[in-house]
Amino acid sequence: MNIILLGPPGAGKGTQAKMLVDKYGIPQISTGEILRANLKAGTQLGLEAKKYMDAGKLVPDEVVIGIINNRIQEEDCRRGYMLDGFPRTVAQAQALDKILAEQGSGIDDVISIEVADHELMGRLTGRRTCRQCGQGFHVMFDPPKVEGICDKCGGELYQRDDDNEKTVANRLKVYSDQTQPLIDYYKKKSLLRSIDGVGDIKEIFGRVVKVLG
Ligand code: AP5
Ligand code: MG
Repeated sequence: MNIILLGPPGAGKGTQAKMLVDKYGIPQISTGEILRANLKAGTQLGLEAKKYMDAGKLVPDEVVIGIINNRIQEEDCRRGYMLDGFPRTVAQAQALDKILAEQGSGIDDVISIEVADHELMGRLTGRRTCRQCGQGFHVMFDPPKVEGICDKCGGELYQRDDDNEKTVANRLKVYSDQTQPLIDYYKKKSLLRSIDGVGDIKEIFGRVVKVLG
């Protein structure tokens, strides 16, 4: 079960992926989370990536392709995985196809979570994330029981550096210019499964599970 979660910033890729991990027992692979973990650890990769992330730009293709190529060969990926936020350019999608073809595997489903632009700004500026376990919340749409504290692990919640209005505006533009073409790319391969990403989080989870069968 190799799945791609596609959708604009704030569509709910991370939120749904974390619920799918529990249901299907396959890992979520988020290039954004891997880059942020690198930054937290102070690696050269993390420091380099931060310049792009803070500007709402994409990190160079060869960097993220290298990350994914290594990650999908790890032991926990043997039964499948969910790619969240990768690929994001046609060049990344083509590189992924090539890597998987060499392994004799491929992508089974591409779930495109569709949310209109005007919904996304509020979702992103109100997002809070747990420093410890990465669980996502929203100050209005999915608030934690205790303000600033993670329901799951008791960790501290923080706001991502790239969730300010200026950077979000850039991320949305980059999405429509560079990532949206992937919708057609996967439609042509008959892999695209589009779902409406507006509504209750659990309801959307039901839609995703129904599509995955
Ligand atoms: P990344 O971390 O992947 O960010 P993103 O794609 O911009 O997506 P988000 O994580 O912002 O959105 P999401 O869809 O996961 O939404 P979430 O579920 O959290 O990438 C960050 C940066 O890293 C990029 O800008 C780039 O620089 C770099 N990067 C990463 N991958 C790369 C790649 N492949 N190539 C090059 N560069 C790369 O939900 C958002 C909020 O909404 C939450 O608060 C949540 O609680 C709330 N919410 C969720 N569902 C609902 C709902 N149904 N109703 C109301 N609120 C909801
Ligand atoms: Mg995310």
